[in-house]
Amino acid sequence: MTLQSIHYKDGVLTLLDQTQLPQNIQYIDFTEYDAVAAAIENMIVRGAPAIGITAAYGVVLGAYNYNEKDNFLQYMQLVIERLASTRPTAINLLWALNRMEKAITNDVSQSIKNLEQLAQTIFEEDKRINEQIGHHTLPLIQPGSIFITHCNPGSLATSILGTATAGFYLAHEKDISFKVYSDETRPRFQGALTAFELSQAGIDVTTITDSTAATILQQQQVTAVIVGCDRIALNGDVVNKIGTLPLAIAAKFYNVPFYVAAPTPTFDLNVHSGDAIPIEERNQKEVTHVADHQIAANVQVYNPAFDITPNNLITGLITEHGIIEANKDAITKLFEEIKS
Ligand code: MRU
Repeated sequence: MTLQSIHYKDGVLTLLDQTQLPQNIQYIDFTEYDAVAAAIENMIVRGAPAIGITAAYGVVLGAYNYNEKDNFLQYMQLVIERLASTRPTAINLLWALNRMEKAITNDVSQSIKNLEQLAQTIFEEDKRINEQIGHHTLPLIQPGSIFITHCNPGSLATSILGTATAGFYLAHEKDISFKVYSDETRPRFQGALTAFELSQAGIDVTTITDSTAATILQQQQVTAVIVGCDRIALNGDVVNKIGTLPLAIAAKFYNVPFYVAAPTPTFDLNVHSGDAIPIEERNQKEVTHVADHQIAANVQVYNPAFDITPNNLITGLITEHGIIEANKDAITKLFEEIKS
Protein backbone atom coordinates (compact mmCIF):
# COMPACT_ATOMS: atom_id res chain seq x y z
CA MET A 1 0.00 0.00 0.00
CA THR A 2 1.41 3.39 -0.96
CA LEU A 3 0.23 6.86 0.01
CA GLN A 4 -1.35 8.82 -2.81
CA SER A 5 -0.39 12.47 -2.66
CA ILE A 6 -2.62 13.82 -5.48
CA HIS A 7 -6.40 13.46 -6.00
CA TYR A 8 -8.65 15.37 -8.41
CA LYS A 9 -12.41 15.45 -8.80
CA ASP A 10 -14.75 17.96 -10.44
CA GLY A 11 -12.71 21.15 -10.11
CA VAL A 12 -11.14 20.29 -6.75
CA LEU A 13 -7.49 19.26 -6.48
CA THR A 14 -6.56 17.62 -3.19
CA LEU A 15 -2.91 17.41 -2.15
CA LEU A 16 -1.34 15.59 0.75
CA ASP A 17 0.57 18.33 2.63
CA GLN A 18 4.12 16.91 2.54
CA THR A 19 5.42 19.68 4.82
CA GLN A 20 3.37 18.12 7.66
CA LEU A 21 4.75 14.59 7.22
CA PRO A 22 5.49 12.32 8.95
CA GLN A 23 3.69 13.78 12.00
CA ASN A 24 0.36 14.64 10.37
CA ILE A 25 -1.43 13.14 7.40
CA GLN A 26 -3.30 16.22 6.29
CA TYR A 27 -4.93 16.89 2.91
CA ILE A 28 -5.61 20.36 1.47
CA ASP A 29 -8.26 21.14 -1.17
CA PHE A 30 -7.42 23.58 -3.95
CA THR A 31 -9.82 25.32 -6.33
CA GLU A 32 -7.57 28.25 -7.41
CA TYR A 33 -4.65 27.81 -9.79
CA ASP A 34 -2.56 30.46 -8.03
CA ALA A 35 -2.81 28.57 -4.73
CA VAL A 36 -1.64 25.43 -6.58
CA ALA A 37 1.38 27.37 -7.86
CA ALA A 38 2.16 28.48 -4.29
CA ALA A 39 1.78 24.85 -3.09
CA ILE A 40 4.46 23.78 -5.59
CA GLU A 41 6.76 26.64 -4.52
CA ASN A 42 6.30 25.83 -0.83
CA MET A 43 6.77 22.10 -1.40
CA ILE A 44 3.36 21.07 -0.12
CA VAL A 45 3.72 18.88 -3.18
CA ARG A 46 7.19 18.03 -4.45
CA GLY A 47 9.14 15.53 -6.53
CA ALA A 48 9.55 15.90 -10.29
CA PRO A 49 6.65 13.74 -11.60
CA ALA A 50 4.27 14.94 -8.86
CA ILE A 51 5.05 18.56 -9.71
CA GLY A 52 4.23 17.86 -13.37
CA ILE A 53 0.92 16.17 -12.53
CA THR A 54 -0.03 18.91 -10.07
CA ALA A 55 0.78 21.67 -12.56
CA ALA A 56 -1.43 19.90 -15.14
CA TYR A 57 -4.34 20.02 -12.70
CA GLY A 58 -3.38 23.64 -11.92
CA VAL A 59 -4.09 24.47 -15.57
CA VAL A 60 -7.50 22.78 -15.25
CA LEU A 61 -8.30 24.93 -12.21
CA GLY A 62 -7.05 27.99 -14.12
CA ALA A 63 -9.63 27.30 -16.84
CA TYR A 64 -12.34 26.89 -14.18
CA ASN A 65 -11.24 30.19 -12.58
CA TYR A 66 -11.73 32.15 -15.86
CA ASN A 67 -14.15 35.04 -15.31
CA GLU A 68 -15.11 36.04 -18.89
CA LYS A 69 -13.63 39.55 -18.54
CA ASP A 70 -10.33 38.78 -20.27
CA ASN A 71 -9.44 37.10 -23.52
CA PHE A 72 -9.46 33.37 -22.67
CA LEU A 73 -6.34 32.41 -24.63
CA GLN A 74 -4.29 35.30 -23.22
CA TYR A 75 -5.56 34.56 -19.71
CA MET A 76 -4.61 30.86 -20.03
CA GLN A 77 -1.15 31.92 -21.18
CA LEU A 78 -0.72 33.79 -17.88
CA VAL A 79 -1.98 30.75 -15.94
CA ILE A 80 0.65 28.56 -17.62
CA GLU A 81 3.41 31.14 -17.09
CA ARG A 82 2.57 31.38 -13.38
CA LEU A 83 2.68 27.59 -12.94
CA ALA A 84 5.89 27.34 -15.01
CA SER A 85 7.60 29.93 -12.80
CA THR A 86 7.25 27.87 -9.60
CA ARG A 87 10.33 25.63 -9.71
CA PRO A 88 13.01 25.77 -12.41
CA THR A 89 14.84 22.45 -12.31
CA ALA A 90 12.47 19.49 -12.79
CA ILE A 91 11.67 19.34 -16.50
CA ASN A 92 8.50 17.33 -15.79
CA LEU A 93 6.83 20.63 -14.90
CA LEU A 94 7.44 22.22 -18.32
CA TRP A 95 6.82 18.90 -20.09
CA ALA A 96 3.34 18.67 -18.54
CA LEU A 97 2.54 22.34 -19.13
CA ASN A 98 3.59 22.13 -22.80
CA ARG A 99 1.21 19.23 -23.28
CA MET A 100 -1.61 21.02 -21.48
CA GLU A 101 -1.12 24.20 -23.52
CA LYS A 102 -1.89 22.31 -26.73
CA ALA A 103 -5.31 21.25 -25.39
CA ILE A 104 -6.54 24.85 -25.01
CA THR A 105 -8.92 26.25 -27.64
CA ASN A 106 -11.08 29.39 -27.91
CA ASP A 107 -14.01 27.43 -26.53
CA VAL A 108 -13.90 27.64 -22.71
CA SER A 109 -16.09 24.67 -21.80
CA GLN A 110 -14.53 22.45 -24.47
CA SER A 111 -11.09 23.48 -23.15
CA ILE A 112 -12.05 22.52 -19.60
CA LYS A 113 -13.13 19.08 -20.84
CA ASN A 114 -9.93 18.62 -22.89
CA LEU A 115 -7.72 19.79 -20.02
CA GLU A 116 -9.41 17.58 -17.44
CA GLN A 117 -9.03 14.57 -19.69
CA LEU A 118 -5.39 15.30 -20.47
CA ALA A 119 -4.41 15.92 -16.83
CA GLN A 120 -5.99 12.57 -15.97
CA THR A 121 -4.05 10.92 -18.83
CA ILE A 122 -0.78 12.41 -17.54
CA PHE A 123 -1.61 11.04 -14.08
CA GLU A 124 -2.47 7.56 -15.40
CA GLU A 125 0.61 7.48 -17.65
CA ASP A 126 2.79 8.20 -14.64
CA LYS A 127 1.27 5.24 -12.78
CA ARG A 128 2.15 2.95 -15.70
CA ILE A 129 5.65 4.43 -15.88
CA ASN A 130 6.18 3.81 -12.15
CA GLU A 131 5.12 0.18 -12.54
CA GLN A 132 7.32 -0.39 -15.59
CA ILE A 133 10.36 1.17 -13.88
CA GLY A 134 9.63 -1.11 -10.93
CA HIS A 135 9.61 -4.19 -13.20
CA HIS A 136 12.95 -3.20 -14.74
CA THR A 137 14.43 -2.63 -11.26
CA LEU A 138 13.24 -5.99 -9.86
CA PRO A 139 16.12 -8.15 -11.22
CA LEU A 140 18.55 -5.99 -9.18
CA ILE A 141 16.74 -6.89 -5.94
CA GLN A 142 17.77 -10.32 -4.68
CA PRO A 143 17.24 -11.77 -1.19
CA GLY A 144 19.69 -10.04 1.15
CA SER A 145 20.32 -7.07 -1.15
CA ILE A 146 21.25 -3.74 0.41
CA PHE A 147 20.47 -0.38 -1.22
CA ILE A 148 21.08 3.28 -0.52
CA THR A 149 18.70 5.93 -1.81
CA HIS A 150 18.62 9.70 -1.54
CA CYS A 151 15.86 12.31 -1.25
CA ASN A 152 12.31 11.06 -1.89
CA PRO A 153 11.94 9.33 -5.24
CA GLY A 154 8.89 7.58 -3.78
CA SER A 155 5.14 7.39 -4.10
CA LEU A 156 4.88 10.84 -2.53
CA ALA A 157 6.92 12.30 -5.37
CA THR A 158 4.90 10.62 -8.13
CA SER A 159 1.49 9.12 -8.82
CA ILE A 160 1.83 5.75 -7.11
CA LEU A 161 5.00 3.66 -6.63
CA GLY A 162 7.72 6.23 -7.10
CA THR A 163 10.64 5.89 -9.47
CA ALA A 164 13.68 4.65 -7.51
CA THR A 165 11.36 3.05 -4.93
CA ALA A 166 9.06 1.28 -7.42
CA GLY A 167 11.23 -1.84 -7.49
CA PHE A 168 11.34 -1.87 -3.69
CA TYR A 169 7.53 -1.96 -3.49
CA LEU A 170 7.28 -4.73 -6.11
CA ALA A 171 10.05 -6.81 -4.47
CA HIS A 172 8.39 -6.43 -1.09
CA GLU A 173 5.10 -7.71 -2.57
CA LYS A 174 7.03 -10.78 -3.74
CA ASP A 175 8.33 -11.33 -0.18
CA ILE A 176 11.95 -10.72 -1.18
CA SER A 177 13.85 -9.56 1.89
CA PHE A 178 16.20 -6.63 1.34
CA LYS A 179 17.34 -3.53 3.18
CA VAL A 180 17.23 0.16 2.23
CA TYR A 181 19.32 2.96 3.72
CA SER A 182 17.65 6.31 3.18
CA ASP A 183 19.79 9.48 3.33
CA GLU A 184 17.92 12.04 5.42
CA THR A 185 18.66 14.67 2.70
CA ARG A 186 19.49 18.03 4.19
CA PRO A 187 18.17 20.66 4.23
CA ARG A 188 14.51 19.65 3.64
CA PHE A 189 14.73 16.06 4.92
CA GLN A 190 12.94 14.43 2.00
CA GLY A 191 14.75 11.22 3.03
CA ALA A 192 12.53 11.18 6.11
CA LEU A 193 9.60 10.99 3.70
CA THR A 194 11.19 7.98 2.01
CA ALA A 195 11.77 6.29 5.37
CA PHE A 196 8.18 7.11 6.31
CA GLU A 197 6.55 5.70 3.19
CA LEU A 198 8.76 2.59 2.97
CA SER A 199 8.22 1.79 6.64
CA GLN A 200 4.45 2.28 6.24
CA ALA A 201 4.62 -0.43 3.56
CA GLY A 202 6.60 -2.72 5.88
CA ILE A 203 9.92 -2.42 4.00
CA ASP A 204 13.13 -2.67 6.06
CA VAL A 205 14.41 0.92 5.94
CA THR A 206 17.05 2.71 8.01
CA THR A 207 17.52 6.47 8.06
CA ILE A 208 21.10 7.73 7.87
CA THR A 209 22.53 11.23 7.74
CA ASP A 210 23.83 12.14 4.28
CA SER A 211 27.39 12.03 5.60
CA THR A 212 26.94 8.42 6.81
CA ALA A 213 26.34 7.06 3.30
CA ALA A 214 30.07 6.71 2.51
CA THR A 215 30.56 4.79 5.76
CA ILE A 216 27.78 2.34 4.82
CA LEU A 217 29.46 1.87 1.42
CA GLN A 218 32.78 1.24 3.21
CA GLN A 219 31.39 -1.13 5.84
CA GLN A 220 28.75 -3.15 4.01
CA GLN A 221 28.32 -5.10 0.81
CA VAL A 222 25.93 -2.55 -0.73
CA THR A 223 24.21 -4.01 -3.82
CA ALA A 224 23.52 -0.66 -5.49
CA VAL A 225 22.64 2.95 -4.98
CA ILE A 226 19.34 3.86 -6.68
CA VAL A 227 18.18 7.49 -6.83
CA GLY A 228 15.54 9.43 -8.75
CA CYS A 229 16.13 12.55 -10.82
CA ASP A 230 14.72 15.90 -11.82
CA ARG A 231 16.28 16.33 -15.26
CA ILE A 232 18.61 14.35 -17.49
CA ALA A 233 20.68 15.99 -20.21
CA LEU A 234 21.20 14.44 -23.66
CA ASN A 235 24.68 13.21 -22.65
CA GLY A 236 23.30 11.36 -19.60
CA ASP A 237 24.35 13.85 -16.91
CA VAL A 238 21.77 13.76 -14.15
CA VAL A 239 20.43 16.58 -11.99
CA ASN A 240 18.94 15.38 -8.73
CA LYS A 241 18.59 16.52 -5.13
CA ILE A 242 21.68 18.10 -3.59
CA GLY A 243 23.82 15.34 -2.10
CA THR A 244 23.43 12.97 -5.06
CA LEU A 245 26.87 13.89 -6.48
CA PRO A 246 28.86 12.99 -3.32
CA LEU A 247 26.88 9.74 -3.09
CA ALA A 248 27.76 8.88 -6.70
CA ILE A 249 31.45 9.70 -6.09
CA ALA A 250 31.51 7.50 -2.98
CA ALA A 251 29.74 4.65 -4.82
CA LYS A 252 32.34 4.82 -7.62
CA PHE A 253 35.17 4.76 -5.05
CA TYR A 254 33.75 1.59 -3.47
CA ASN A 255 32.81 -0.01 -6.83
CA VAL A 256 29.11 -0.03 -6.06
CA PRO A 257 26.73 0.33 -9.04
CA PHE A 258 24.93 3.68 -9.14
CA TYR A 259 21.53 3.68 -10.89
CA VAL A 260 19.20 6.56 -11.64
CA ALA A 261 15.50 5.80 -12.08
CA ALA A 262 14.49 8.00 -14.97
CA PRO A 263 11.02 8.24 -16.49
CA THR A 264 11.18 9.56 -20.08
CA PRO A 265 9.38 12.86 -19.21
CA THR A 266 12.47 13.63 -17.08
CA PHE A 267 14.82 13.63 -20.09
CA ASP A 268 15.56 17.00 -21.67
CA LEU A 269 16.99 16.34 -25.11
CA ASN A 270 17.38 20.09 -25.71
CA VAL A 271 20.06 20.32 -23.06
CA HIS A 272 23.39 18.80 -24.11
CA SER A 273 25.02 18.44 -20.70
CA GLY A 274 24.17 18.87 -17.05
CA ASP A 275 25.89 22.23 -16.63
CA ALA A 276 23.21 23.86 -18.84
CA ILE A 277 20.38 22.78 -16.50
CA PRO A 278 19.09 25.57 -14.22
CA ILE A 279 19.71 24.75 -10.57
CA GLU A 280 17.17 26.13 -8.14
CA GLU A 281 18.57 28.07 -5.18
CA ARG A 282 16.22 28.11 -2.23
CA ASN A 283 15.74 30.30 0.81
CA GLN A 284 18.65 30.41 3.28
CA LYS A 285 16.23 29.74 6.12
CA GLU A 286 16.05 26.11 4.92
CA VAL A 287 19.68 25.80 6.06
CA THR A 288 19.77 28.09 9.09
CA HIS A 289 16.55 26.71 10.60
CA VAL A 290 15.04 23.31 11.25
CA ALA A 291 11.30 23.89 11.22
CA ASP A 292 11.15 27.25 13.05
CA HIS A 293 14.16 26.58 15.24
CA GLN A 294 17.31 28.51 14.33
CA ILE A 295 20.42 26.29 14.31
CA ALA A 296 22.96 28.52 12.55
CA ALA A 297 24.33 32.00 13.09
CA ASN A 298 23.23 34.74 10.74
CA VAL A 299 25.99 34.14 8.22
CA GLN A 300 25.98 33.79 4.43
CA VAL A 301 24.26 30.67 3.15
CA TYR A 302 24.53 28.87 -0.18
CA ASN A 303 21.53 26.60 -0.69
CA PRO A 304 21.38 24.96 -4.14
CA ALA A 305 18.51 22.47 -4.18
CA PHE A 306 20.10 20.14 -6.75
CA ASP A 307 23.48 18.98 -8.00
CA ILE A 308 24.81 17.58 -11.27
CA THR A 309 26.08 14.00 -11.40
CA PRO A 310 28.26 13.46 -14.49
CA ASN A 311 27.38 10.51 -16.70
CA ASN A 312 30.66 8.69 -16.02
CA LEU A 313 29.56 8.05 -12.42
CA ILE A 314 26.29 6.42 -13.51
CA THR A 315 25.98 2.67 -14.11
CA GLY A 316 22.58 2.88 -15.76
CA LEU A 317 19.37 4.82 -16.21
CA ILE A 318 16.34 2.73 -15.27
CA THR A 319 13.59 3.93 -17.62
CA GLU A 320 10.10 2.57 -18.22
CA HIS A 321 11.53 1.00 -21.40
CA GLY A 322 14.43 -0.79 -19.68
CA ILE A 323 17.89 0.03 -18.33
CA ILE A 324 20.10 2.06 -20.66
CA GLU A 325 23.59 3.50 -20.40
CA ALA A 326 23.91 7.14 -19.38
CA ASN A 327 25.30 8.49 -22.65
CA LYS A 328 24.15 10.37 -25.76
CA ASP A 329 24.08 7.33 -28.07
CA ALA A 330 21.93 5.23 -25.75
CA ILE A 331 19.55 8.12 -25.01
CA THR A 332 19.19 9.10 -28.69
CA LYS A 333 18.54 5.45 -29.61
CA LEU A 334 15.87 5.12 -26.90
CA PHE A 335 13.97 8.19 -28.08
CA GLU A 336 14.25 7.16 -31.75
CA GLU A 337 12.76 3.77 -30.84
CA ILE A 338 9.93 5.45 -28.89
CA LYS A 339 9.14 7.68 -31.91
CA SER A 340 9.03 4.80 -34.42
O1 MRU B 1 13.10 19.39 -4.16
P1 MRU B 1 12.28 18.16 -4.35
O2 MRU B 1 11.91 17.48 -3.08
O3 MRU B 1 11.10 18.38 -5.27
O4 MRU B 1 13.29 17.22 -5.12
C1 MRU B 1 12.91 15.96 -5.50
C2 MRU B 1 14.03 15.10 -5.91
O5 MRU B 1 15.14 15.54 -6.10
C3 MRU B 1 13.72 13.71 -6.16
O6 MRU B 1 14.86 12.91 -5.99
C4 MRU B 1 13.22 13.51 -7.56
O7 MRU B 1 12.25 14.41 -7.93
C5 MRU B 1 12.79 12.12 -7.60
S1 MRU B 1 11.87 11.61 -8.96
C6 MRU B 1 10.57 10.76 -8.22
